[in-house]
Amino acid sequence: MRILHLGFLLALASGLTAILIYINGLSNHYGNHKLSDEDWEALQSLQSSFQKCVTANGLGLEAVSGTDYCQVTLTYPSDTDSKWKDPKTGEVEGLSFEFNLCEAVATWEQVRNSTTILTREFIDALPHGWEEYAWRRINKGVLLNHCKNKALCMEKLSLVLPETPPYVPRQFGRCAVIGNSGDLLKTRFGKEIDSYDVVIRENGAPIENYTEYVGKKSSFRLLNRGSAKALDKVVELDETRQEVLIIKTTIHDIMNQMIREIPIKNPVYLMLGASFGSAAKGTGLKALEFALSLCDSVDMYGFTVDPGYKEWTRYFSESRKGHTPLHGRAYYQMMECLGLIKIHSPMRSDPNRVVKWVPSRTAIRAARIASEKLLRRVGAGSEDLLSSCSIIKKQVRRKRMSITSLRKAAVDHHKFVKGTTMYPLEHSLGHGQLCTVPVD
Ligand SMILES: *[C@@H]1O[C@H](CO)[C@@H](O)[C@H](O)[C@H]1NC(C)=O
Ligand SMILES: *[C@@H]1O[C@H](CO)[C@@H](O)[C@H](O)[C@H]1NC(C)=O
Repeated sequence: MRILHLGFLLALASGLTAILIYINGLSNHYGNHKLSDEDWEALQSLQSSFQKCVTANGLGLEAVSGTDYCQVTLTYPSDTDSKWKDPKTGEVEGLSFEFNLCEAVATWEQVRNSTTILTREFIDALPHGWEEYAWRRINKGVLLNHCKNKALCMEKLSLVLPETPPYVPRQFGRCAVIGNSGDLLKTRFGKEIDSYDVVIRENGAPIENYTEYVGKKSSFRLLNRGSAKALDKVVELDETRQEVLIIKTTIHDIMNQMIREIPIKNPVYLMLGASFGSAAKGTGLKALEFALSLCDSVDMYGFTVDPGYKEWTRYFSESRKGHTPLHGRAYYQMMECLGLIKIHSPMRSDPNRVVKWVPSRTAIRAARIASEKLLRRVGAGSEDLLSSCSIIKKQVRRKRMSITSLRKAAVDHHKFVKGTTMYPLEHSLGHGQLCTVPVD
């Protein structure tokens, strides 16, 4: 009887500890969401310098704070001639746009520490990675029936799927992202663009015959589906054939065939992006995201970001259909005033232009931490490095990346994260990441 009693108590106790551990684990996982006075101050101070920054640099744009610490509305002068019509509703684009600064600062700061290239280790570590994710990245993946035949899926991805990330955060110093706007022909930015460590271009942007305006250097090229299908033509745009091609959509049989048969010697990868909602869909924004995951600083050229928008033009072809130009310009201005990018345009052509009132790195960091708590992001308020990871995979590194040859900033970051690779997870509640941790 005694023994039975004791056994019962023991069972009860161990049950309780199990529950306690579970609750503890859970609260660690979801982090500490209580905002301190310093957190509120950080958000307030971000808002106020943000507003001054938009006024000082936005060529007529004004920022007004909304009802809470995060909401901000960017407004164009009332005499702005809005030209773009939504083809579905026939409505003209409005003159003011609401943004959530907390969302933006938390999500974009995370991008700086993430890997945005799809790897084999990511698919392997993702629960149902092959059946649920990989087959979506293959054109006509539906026919593969959730990768029932995994070997076939792997075969289709093999030419574009490195085992581990080919690049690490901060690998490069100064980077320039070049859009395709017709505005590029208004300023001779060529020499300036060539002075960057890395130049990122988009789709079918030609270099030959335009070098005075767009420069010669080309390190990466981001491709949408249309351009990727013409991979053979795209590789000819860069004479050196060194450009790394990044495909933002699915891999297509035509592409595999071209890589194999032509053969295309350029490295080709698929992009793995974070989700920003409807605000950030175009190739331009994806290129900025990609750049921010590799570079210390990101400068932007060739986007339509000056007042007086008339129609969507490209520097190398006739005008074509564009979309939401005013929304785009406001969004880029927000990015500049969060210290993410620097805008260069015909009206902002002085290479030494200083972005006034851009918040300091310290201020951004404080606002980011406060935002993570407010938005109940995974791991908010925790000092633990891995707290923002909702999936953690220990990985025996077969091939160790030689980090000693990298820039100091990249090595420092690598040490700070102890070699952990962080991948964005699409549609993850609380923006948790997938992390692979090296074990020896
Ligand atoms: C550059 O100009 C030459 C001569 O007009 C033309 O043949 C060539 O196709 C052009 N190159 C590109 C990339 O547009
Ligand atoms: C990103 O990494 C840096 C160290 O390189 C660290 O200071 C910073 O807090 C990290 N940011 C996020 C959002 O985790």
